[in-house]
Amino acid sequence: MKKIILSGMRPTGKLHLGHLVGALDNWVKLQKEYQCFFMVADWHALMSEYEDTRELLSNITDNVIDWLSVGIDPKESVIFVQSKVPEHLKLYMIFSCLTPLGLLERCPTYKEQLREVKMRNLNTYGFLGYPVLQAADILLYKADKVPVGRDQLPHLELTREISRLFNNLYKKEIFPYPDAILTETPKLLGLDGRKMSKSYLNTINLSDPPSLITKKISTMFTDPKRIKLGDEGHPDTCNVFSYYSTFILKMKNEVYDWCTSAKKGCTECKKILAENIIDKISPIQKKREEISRDKEGIKKIIAKGNENASAIASKTMQDVFKAVNL
Ligand code: TRP
Ligand code: SF4
Repeated sequence: MKKIILSGMRPTGKLHLGHLVGALDNWVKLQKEYQCFFMVADWHALMSEYEDTRELLSNITDNVIDWLSVGIDPKESVIFVQSKVPEHLKLYMIFSCLTPLGLLERCPTYKEQLREVKMRNLNTYGFLGYPVLQAADILLYKADKVPVGRDQLPHLELTREISRLFNNLYKKEIFPYPDAILTETPKLLGLDGRKMSKSYLNTINLSDPPSLITKKISTMFTDPKRIKLGDEGHPDTCNVFSYYSTFILKMKNEVYDWCTSAKKGCTECKKILAENIIDKISPIQKKREEISRDKEGIKKIIAKGNENASAIASKTMQDVFKAVNL
């Protein structure tokens, strides 16, 4: 029996290179060794972006297309949509009853979002419960491991706490105590050097056409100390160089050399980077186009995933209902 993995992503927009190095590449690698469940967390998207849902539905399909085109294999892994498996809400409800309010109010991600997000009103009942639903997502499939970024660690801790509370209260060891698998890839910064994020308009998207990628990369900041072509550069403080070391590792030494010895200028360096990134993601884009054409095929994959997820989820819920006498 393979160990079980569950992970999810909120369908809040087009996937970008940050998602690729931060999560998707890792998911693809985990598929063989584990039984993976990859979930489109549309309830979670609603919890944080309920004010504007115009693109929610198209984002769900878009995310699945992106996953398939980077190599998530529906024959190996279960790809499903959270809101189509009603058991998530049932377990969320039961967990809501036993989760201490203080744990949620003190949750670092909650406090940070309330502080930082000014454009949306997150001061809601639903948003406070965000990590409770995440615990339900994970525990419904009795996941052993959860691949996530460092920022999600508090949610994993809360998941284990909820599992402990439930198992103790109802005197049944129904739920496991899942661990995170941390994605240790270096963080890829956005074009402007801030965190790569849709809301900063600094992303390179998996679906960007080559001309747009070239244009975007040409706007990147480089080493501020390098003003004239003849100035020697400092790759370690240049965001362009960090893209090379994340994506085009084979060129790292060469770029370091042409930068520090002022053999190439930044404009050329960025042009070469753009060409290499385009090369690297063009197979993904080809696959993306192929998959996008087959609308029925995508629907079938999602329907099958929902069905497979439901089968497991309803089994867990039978045990849960029995344990709580419902
Ligand atoms: N909260 C996660 C994020 O924003 C998304 C998510 C929802 C998730 N449910 C999950 C991740 C379950 C892992 C497991 O990234
Ligand atoms: Fe950055 Fe390349 Fe310019 Fe060096 S040559 S400063 S690595 S863009």
